[in-house]
Amino acid sequence: MKAADGSEPQKRRAGERAATAVEDGMVVGLGTGSTAAYAIRALGEAVADGLSITGIPTSYQSRALARSVGIELTTLETDLPDIAIDGADQLRLRDGCCIKGGGGAHTREKIVDSAADRCLIVVDETKLATTLDHPVAIELLEAGWPTVQSSLEALGGSVTLREATRKDGPVISDNGNLIADCTGLDDPASLAERIGSLAGIVDHGIFVDIADAVYVGTESDVTIHQVNK
Ligand code: A5P
Repeated sequence: MKAADGSEPQKRRAGERAATAVEDGMVVGLGTGSTAAYAIRALGEAVADGLSITGIPTSYQSRALARSVGIELTTLETDLPDIAIDGADQLRLRDGCCIKGGGGAHTREKIVDSAADRCLIVVDETKLATTLDHPVAIELLEAGWPTVQSSLEALGGSVTLREATRKDGPVISDNGNLIADCTGLDDPASLAERIGSLAGIVDHGIFVDIADAVYVGTESDVTIHQVNK
């Protein structure tokens, strides 16, 4: 699990409020991370109270949590999500662009969040930024590491492989790939397409034009921002 950051009460408010947007019969994309987990737990309680939904998890973590709270699961092969609820590492409210992948789950998150009719991003206030400068997570094939590294350096980035903490060597994603983190990119959102097209990259954590609404947990409430796409 990645190191906890941000305000737990704010994350909880955001996640739980977003869960109230889920309606009976919906297929729900289940994001990854500590904030999305509050939404999943709230949905589990709603299911226990009679709400009928199915979930499409974005990671091993969200699948295990959803199962443990009684949410029936499905896949993109048979269903498309009506709504997705997911967290972010950093988010620009102006256009809803965000950086994800702190937990290494951004590839499946992007697949599920993009497929949803509506994607709700849930964050605490520490995630908000006017300039996106959070390290960008990049999932890549091992064979592509040397060329991906030099291509990102040519774009002005500085990139390192993510090291595991309770295993020797690198983090291996749920999809069996390496994860690298790239810092120093000037305006990552404007580089999203270029980075995504580098040979050997599976996907990166820059989410452009995916969020439809942002739920921000504050000291005492939740503010909801609709994103104009
Ligand atoms: C998972 O890889 C990430 O994209 C998470 O959604 C993101 O790191 C937000 O996680 P927290 O809600 O735990 O901050």
